[in-house]
Amino acid sequence: MSVNETERQLEYIELCKKEYQKACDAAGKRLSCHVVTFGCQMNARDSEKLAGILKEVGYELTEDENTADFVIFNTCTIRDNANQKLYGRLGSLYHRKKSNPDIKIALCGCMMQEPSVIELIRKKYKYVNLVFGTHNLFKFAELLYTMMESDSQIIDIWEKTDEIVEDLPVERKYSFKSGINIMYGCNNFCTYCIVPYVRGRERSREPKDIIREIEKLVADGVVEIMLLGQNVNSYGKNLENPVTFAELLQDIEKIEGLKRIRFMTSHPKDLSDELIETMKNSKKICKQLHLPIQSGSNEILKKMNRRYTKEHYLELVRKIKEAVPDIALTTDIIVGFPGETVEDVNETIDVVRKVGYDNAFTFIYSVRSGTPAGDMEQLDEAFVKEQFDRVLKAVQEEAAKKNGILSGKVEEVLVEDVNEHDSSMVTGRLSGGTVVHFPGGSELIGSFVNVRLNEAKGFYYLGERVD
Ligand code: 5AD
Ligand code: SF4
Repeated sequence: MSVNETERQLEYIELCKKEYQKACDAAGKRLSCHVVTFGCQMNARDSEKLAGILKEVGYELTEDENTADFVIFNTCTIRDNANQKLYGRLGSLYHRKKSNPDIKIALCGCMMQEPSVIELIRKKYKYVNLVFGTHNLFKFAELLYTMMESDSQIIDIWEKTDEIVEDLPVERKYSFKSGINIMYGCNNFCTYCIVPYVRGRERSREPKDIIREIEKLVADGVVEIMLLGQNVNSYGKNLENPVTFAELLQDIEKIEGLKRIRFMTSHPKDLSDELIETMKNSKKICKQLHLPIQSGSNEILKKMNRRYTKEHYLELVRKIKEAVPDIALTTDIIVGFPGETVEDVNETIDVVRKVGYDNAFTFIYSVRSGTPAGDMEQLDEAFVKEQFDRVLKAVQEEAAKKNGILSGKVEEVLVEDVNEHDSSMVTGRLSGGTVVHFPGGSELIGSFVNVRLNEAKGFYYLGERVD
C-alpha cells in the first residue's frame, strides 16, 4: 500500500514539474516558495517534507516571505495564541495578494484539523488557494498539482489515517543533523490537550524503516539525530512485532558514523527502567532529557489525566540522575489549569526546586475547545498571571544555579552555524544542549570540536578551541 502511494506521489511530482515550468514561463521568472513553520519539532520535520517536494518540483526555496510567489503556513494549535498568530500573518499577506493575485497561499498542519477553523477559512479567507491537514500531508504533491490546475479554493481534510508513506523527498534545514519521526499521533488524551484530536491515534514506524532512513542520512553527512514522537516511550507497542523504545535506541546506537542521538517527547508514565539503563550504557544518547511534569499537584495531575503522581515523577528523576549524573533535565509546566489553587502551584514549585531543571517551558493554560478541560470552569486571569509569575521565578532561579557549572572544563561541541552577531565566531551545542560560542570559521560547521568553556554568560558559554 505504502509503496504504491509513494509511487503515485512521485508521479504527481513529475506532473507538477511541467505545470511549474508553464507558470514560470508565463511569469517570465523562476517562481519561489517559502514555508512558514509554527509549533513543535514535528511540524519542523513536516515542513522539511513539504520543502523536499517543492524543491523537487523546481521551486526556488526562499527565506523571504515578502517576495515569495507561494507561501505555505504549517500551523500549530496547541494554544490559542498559535492560532491568533496565523490570522495576523494571513492578513498581511492578503494585502500583497491584492496587488499581485498570482501569489499562491496554502495552509496545513494541526490547526487545519479543527472544523471551526475550516469553516472560518471557507467564509473569511477565500483567497487562500489550498488547505490540507496533518493526515494527508503525504499527498502534498497531488494537492499541489490540483492547486496548480484549479482557480478555486481546494480544501482536503482527513479525519484520520492508518497510512505511513515512506521514501518521499525531504529537504533538510541542516546538513549535519536531522529530526526523524518514529511515531505519529498520541493516545494519551490529557484533558487539556488538543494533540490527540489533530494528530490522531498512535502509529509507530517499523524499526527497519527508521534504521534505513538514519543510515541514509548518515551516509549523507548527518551526525546527530532527534527521534520524534508525541510520546516516544510508548514506541513500538502497536507494531505487529512489538519493540520497545529502548530496543530501538540500542539498534540505532549500532549505526556506524552516527555520533549523537536525541529524542522527544517522553511521557513520565511510560518511561521504563530499561530506557534508563540504555541511556546509562549508551555512548551516543545525549545527556539530556525532556520530561514534561505539567503540574506537581497530584489532584491536578489526576484532573489532567496524566496517570502519574508527583512522587512517581520525583522517583523517576532520582533514578535518571543516579544513572546519568550530569544529565540536563528540562520540562513543560502548565499554570492555570481549571481548579488549580495556590497550594497546587506550591506543589509545582516544590518539584521545580527539588529537580533543579536546566530549563522549564512554562505555559499559561489555554482553553482548547473539544477537550474535556475546555468544559470545566475556568480560573480568573489575574490570579493565573500571578501564579505563573511565581512559577517562572522559581524556574529562573533554579536554571541560574546551573549556569556556569561546566566553566573551565573541556567539552565536545557540535558546530552548528557561524555566530549570528560576530562572523569570526561559530556557535554549537554540548551533548546536554547548552549553546557555546567560540572563535572559528564556517568550515567547522557539522564537525565536533573540543572547546574549553572559559566563561558562562547566562544560558551559554564563551570558549576556545583546544585541539
Ligand atoms: N494550554 C497550555 N499549554 C498546553 N500544552 C499543551 N496543551 C496546552 C494547553 N491547552 C503544553 C504542555 C505540553 C506542551 C507541548 O504544551 O505543557 O507539554
Ligand atoms: Fe506540534 Fe502539537 Fe502544535 Fe501540532 S499542536 S504543531 S503537534 S505542538
